[in-house]
Amino acid sequence: MSRKVRARWLLIIMAAGGLLLAACTWPGLEPSPAATLTSQPRPTSPVSGTPAASPFRPELPLYRDPAQPVEVRVADLLSRMTLDEKIGQMALVERSAISDPRDIATFGLGGILSGGGSVPTPNTPSAWADMVDGFQRAALSSRLGIPILYGVDAVHGHNNVVGATIFPHNIGLGATRNPALVQKVAQITAREVYATGIRWTFSPCLCVGRDERWGRTYECFGEDPEVVSMMAGPAVRGYQGPDLSAPNAILATAKHWVADGGTQGGVDRGDAVLSEEELRRVHIPPYVEAIRAGVGSVMASFSSWNGTKMHGNPYLLTTVLKEELGFRGFLVSDWGAIDQLPGDYASDVRTAINAGIDMVMVPYDYQQFLQTLRAEVQAGRIRQERIDDAVSRILIQKFALGLFERPLADRSGIGDIGSPAHREVARQAVRESLVLLKNEGNILPISPNRKNILVAGSNGDDIGSQCGGWTITWQGERGDITPGTTIYQGIKNLAPPGTQVTYARQPVSLSGYDLGIVVIGERPYAEWYGDDADLEISPEDAAAVQQVCDAMPCVVILISGRPMIINTQLAQADALIAAWLPGTEGDGVAEVLFGRYDFTGKLPVSWPRSIDQLPLNVGDAGYDPLFPYGFGLSYSSSSTGP
Ligand code: BGC
Ligand code: BGC
Repeated sequence: MSRKVRARWLLIIMAAGGLLLAACTWPGLEPSPAATLTSQPRPTSPVSGTPAASPFRPELPLYRDPAQPVEVRVADLLSRMTLDEKIGQMALVERSAISDPRDIATFGLGGILSGGGSVPTPNTPSAWADMVDGFQRAALSSRLGIPILYGVDAVHGHNNVVGATIFPHNIGLGATRNPALVQKVAQITAREVYATGIRWTFSPCLCVGRDERWGRTYECFGEDPEVVSMMAGPAVRGYQGPDLSAPNAILATAKHWVADGGTQGGVDRGDAVLSEEELRRVHIPPYVEAIRAGVGSVMASFSSWNGTKMHGNPYLLTTVLKEELGFRGFLVSDWGAIDQLPGDYASDVRTAINAGIDMVMVPYDYQQFLQTLRAEVQAGRIRQERIDDAVSRILIQKFALGLFERPLADRSGIGDIGSPAHREVARQAVRESLVLLKNEGNILPISPNRKNILVAGSNGDDIGSQCGGWTITWQGERGDITPGTTIYQGIKNLAPPGTQVTYARQPVSLSGYDLGIVVIGERPYAEWYGDDADLEISPEDAAAVQQVCDAMPCVVILISGRPMIINTQLAQADALIAAWLPGTEGDGVAEVLFGRYDFTGKLPVSWPRSIDQLPLNVGDAGYDPLFPYGFGLSYSSSSTGP
């Protein structure tokens, strides 16, 4: 080779090397295995106005740098995303619909959820963490490595998980009138959820339950905006903590925006026929508190307002919630709810997204959803800015949660799931939730002289009934569904030495007892399965009360998600307690029965005399309830009744 040729080769090699070097350090190119060639100019730093980093150092893209402000990271990531990657973020998919985990990266799915009772096998905390980590690893293998957000209905504790602490449902928490306790309950729920690798709960429900025939009444803190607003901020702060990226913090969801509890006749997913004045006075105030507390997501309601489905209402979803109230988190649709909008599927998707829905709980056919959404954007029927806004809102929360830095489960708290310390807080919540409606002749607290106590009734020795719906399964179930203490066991545990406690669901013999405690009420249910037109006590329960109360002094305990028509039982019993759906810690009931603690609970709803009084709410003209909103006796107050 001549010297001239050799020199030319050397030049070519040097030039190629230089190009390679330049390519490696070129701003906008990522060192990731699958870097794109869409080289974008690196955004300038908002503070100094100069390029954010030296172009000669290969380094992480801005969105991966936790030192950058969240807005900078979001803008950087968004600028790298294709349309398909963006719309993928807008899909929330039920875990059982994902037959091939590779789909998570292929479609860049934004979120995965467990619907009620959608659980791993075995249903143990570590199996939950393994499952979520498996989905997360699949998501991280995508081109940009955007983590998924996993969501679950942890609405009274981490209630799908066997062995978790189950707290009273919201109606009982409303009766406590103790916002600090509600915050603590949410905090402990967050700990148990976090330990299984999940960072998002579909709670708190901020329904203002105006008609007890509604099957979701127990998910509301009460019938009046006062009590719901009182608990909204504390619940959100309990879940989210002071810093979402800190251990044990999870994203909260205020649901279901708005007036889910205001439908005509208390029909689930029905129509709230009311003026805008009433909507704003009764149903919106709790959301103001949740937004003030920084709630990261809001779920839209299946229900309608004056005939228009919420999921297609741009005025309420965008103008009021986002613009007027300043909600900056993301708005998630409810389970398949966009499918119920009028029109074909393309129209459903377009209407919901244009109205302001940011993430769609599909929940099953995500390919159809993604194809439809893409086609709508490409046809110009959904604007690119709307997509960018939706995706930015979702990404902001993912960054805020620290998911990019710590995407996998931190299992250090797994041993605390259902721990005695957590159950102690649940027990306190049970004690404070009990409302004493009658205490004739001060039969309560139970005197140590009563040596033979009979516990009877359908709900006397039943964890499943105490927990109600949204426990292990979606609908809940009677029986031994998860570890806990039934009311009968609690009474037995706390009875003074020498006292006999016997349980018989329908007692055959009634002699030899000096006190009867009859525990009656509802069976578990969720959503529209619980809509009930008459709220009657069952014939079996009515017979048990009559039989026991005829034979001995008796206390009736009502386990129910709402008031029931109890006039007959109230007349037959010496004492009557509304215990709501207390959850796993039945000894909380026993502690108050035996006088270790006083009753402090106050009715969070008005108690009707008859079914045709409904809807019946405090402040109504001609208000004439059996027991008014706020009623509740105690040992220290007068104790005979209203
Ligand atoms: C309920 C929501 C729940 C969702 C996911 C829906 O049917 O209305 O409250 O968060 O399912 O389970
Ligand atoms: C799911 C629930 C959901 C419901 C809505 C059930 O199959 O488990 O989470 O709320 O469907 O229809």
